[in-house]
Amino acid sequence: MNPLTNPTALGVDKVLIYIFGSSLLLLAGITIVMIWFVVRYRRSKCPEPTSDIHGNLWLEIAWTLLPTLIVLSMFWYGWTNYLGLRQVPENAFEVKATGRMWSWQFEYANGRTSNKLYIPVGKPIKVLLTSTDVLHSFFMPAFRIKRDTVPGVDTYVWFQAPEVGSYDIFCAEYCGTGHADMITTAEALSAEEFERWYNKNPTLVQNHGRQLMVELGCLGCHSFDGSSPIAPKFGKLKGAERNISNEGIKRTIRIDADYLRRAIRAPEADLVENFPPIMPPYGDEISEKDLDAIIKYLLDGAEEPKIDGNKLIKENGCLSCHSTDGSKRVGPSFKGLGKRTSEVKRDGQELKIKVNADYLKRAIREPNHDVVEGYPAIMPPGAQFSDEEVEAIIEELLKK
Ligand code: CUA
Repeated sequence: MNPLTNPTALGVDKVLIYIFGSSLLLLAGITIVMIWFVVRYRRSKCPEPTSDIHGNLWLEIAWTLLPTLIVLSMFWYGWTNYLGLRQVPENAFEVKATGRMWSWQFEYANGRTSNKLYIPVGKPIKVLLTSTDVLHSFFMPAFRIKRDTVPGVDTYVWFQAPEVGSYDIFCAEYCGTGHADMITTAEALSAEEFERWYNKNPTLVQNHGRQLMVELGCLGCHSFDGSSPIAPKFGKLKGAERNISNEGIKRTIRIDADYLRRAIRAPEADLVENFPPIMPPYGDEISEKDLDAIIKYLLDGAEEPKIDGNKLIKENGCLSCHSTDGSKRVGPSFKGLGKRTSEVKRDGQELKIKVNADYLKRAIREPNHDVVEGYPAIMPPGAQFSDEEVEAIIEELLKK
């Protein structure tokens, strides 16, 4: 298949042009003949009827058969192209899309989630559709695909992006006050860029050196806080002192790039005191360029990876119901959350609760435990988050 085509749009457009074109042709033909007859056989020209015909079998067969064939051809053409919309190419890349009040969430095979649909360009994409609450409708005009999402029903659409860029996604089924907010995009990326996006840990702040160390397994032995008994800790290493021994000769050095290079390429040369000599030397598996990235990261102060709470808030669609500027939407605004007292209903009883980390944790994990006065109880429980992620989110929320 030519990677630079938009097969679903081509199929639908062909059918549309065929039906619209043949309708137009018939309309024009009938109208022209009608006007011509009106002029030609006007009363002033033919005061008396010129003929008296009671039937013509061949004519009647022709005008019954021809329209039937035309209509059947429309059906056949439409049907075969509809099948094209339902038959997904075998090498399609699958993404799960969930409609909910009022945002779309996309989930990938490796567990990544986002609320924009990131896809590789030129590859067939199968979007598995479902809904958590009410009817929504997944609509991508650029690919002429639209399909309802129904709670408890799994269905799908497929498409293929012909070029790198942004394609609109709408909800095309009125689903409540936030319906108009269910707008997002599909971002078609080049294969390499998509690969990079797909394999990034979504919630960690990225650093190339750190990424490499995760992949190489360094963090299996080294800790950031000194809790590991088998290997020296990371942290701000630039200029830090270490007592090392080299074939029994002890000395104190200050850590610099050269030392780290040696410690990775030939760790048995300078051993840090009080740690067993178990670090394997790393040779070809780390390129010079990668080694530089790792050394820079270690010197500049490696830290415990931070989870990006703001990113989680954005990517999980929280902002489609909660504003950050104090305006009232479907859910309470995030603005000034940390300084607020929340009036809630718990089991029918009214309570006033100071908003703090505990309260927010409950609000995310079991949103229907305490329902904020004046808002509908529609928030889905945030079961997709790990405890660390919930903490990162709360930290951000309390800052707003
Ligand atoms: Cu969802 Cu309209």
